[in-house]
Amino acid sequence: MAEGPGTVSLTQRRVAPSILSADFARLGSHVQEVLDAGARVIHVDVMDGHFVPPITFGAVVVSALADVVHDAGAIIDVHMMVDRPERHIADIAGAGADSITIHVEATPHVHYALAAIRDAGCAASAALCPATPIEALADVADGALDMALCMTVNPGWGAQSFIPHSFAKVARLRALLPDHVGLEVDGGIHDETAGPIVQAGANMLVTGSAVFGSDDPAGTYRSIASAAGAA
Ligand code: DX5
Ligand code: ZN
Repeated sequence: MAEGPGTVSLTQRRVAPSILSADFARLGSHVQEVLDAGARVIHVDVMDGHFVPPITFGAVVVSALADVVHDAGAIIDVHMMVDRPERHIADIAGAGADSITIHVEATPHVHYALAAIRDAGCAASAALCPATPIEALADVADGALDMALCMTVNPGWGAQSFIPHSFAKVARLRALLPDHVGLEVDGGIHDETAGPIVQAGANMLVTGSAVFGSDDPAGTYRSIASAAGAA
């Protein structure tokens, strides 16, 4: 029997494959491969062509993946790289998202947007671009936040190099956050960066091109999960 999505917590140590680098001609089966390998968090990157230059996908793709992900007892972790994300929360939540991350740089109404995410029945998360100080989360860290996302590359593209300054930033962010708030990292995560970024304090590791760009997504997922000491 499948476990329910409710068994996945954002404070657990997990590796979250990002579908940005998946084969969209066979998205369902590509995602099924990493679910079969043990992935329980599937990361979906929504981009609007304004907050970041590329345009990707939105609620339609979340909805298309919802059954296959939830039937495996996994969750859909939506990363919204869009301006004024509060205008899209109801659609994304209604499509089947379990956690939604908004960028603090994308709206003047971060607290409002986080509350709207919870009101829609999802876990609420806020992301910081590499140049954004961790203090941008200080006034929502205790109370409004279920997870923080520290970008370890500039948002918008897969397969970029990990920014080394991120190790120190993640450690400072972990110290700022209460224990019940998860800490996700996104960008340039692979076998070699996974262990050190966990040591720095991250527990949720997004990985796109390393997994879906490989010839063996399941094996690569297991290798990164092992390097991270993840379930
Ligand atoms: C980039 C996205 C990432 C992307 C990471 O803006 O937010 O989730 O898929 O890709 P990799 O793991 O290739 O750096
Ligand atoms: Zn992402």
